Amino acid sequence: MKIIIGSDHGGFLLKLEIIEHLRARNIEIVDVGCDSEQSCDYPIYAKKLTDEIKNDSSALGILVCGTGIGMSMAANKVEGIRAALCHDTFSAEATREHNNANILCMGARVVGPGLALKIVDTFIDTPFSNDERHIRRISMYS
Ligand code: RB5
Repeated sequence: MKIIIGSDHGGFLLKLEIIEHLRARNIEIVDVGCDSEQSCDYPIYAKKLTDEIKNDSSALGILVCGTGIGMSMAANKVEGIRAALCHDTFSAEATREHNNANILCMGARVVGPGLALKIVDTFIDTPFSNDERHIRRISMYS
């Protein structure tokens, strides 16, 4: 499994914790930036990450900003992207099973690192259901 991860300055420190956690799980990580807590523009990193996902549709993405909202809005402008803003594990599980979400967005100013890592694990460990009704519904907007 390959995970592409990106953040702006607001999500930078949480991104580092997520990378450390996923490396401990021996999961391949590609970090598209940013590289510090210096103020930057989240759409730049949403675009870098969605470009990577479009090149490797088997990969999943994680985008972190202050709220997760800007990242999810920017990522969802890109065709083929289904970015889900999740701050609880129920939503993270449901969006993989029902929406086949390919990007998890979170806000580092919203969730603490303990919950964020559980959300990450839930998201990446839950497969799409492949249920016919969910495939039909996704095809209605993809
Ligand atoms: C940056 O201050 C903040 O606006 C950004 O991290 C994010 O929350 C945008 O949605």
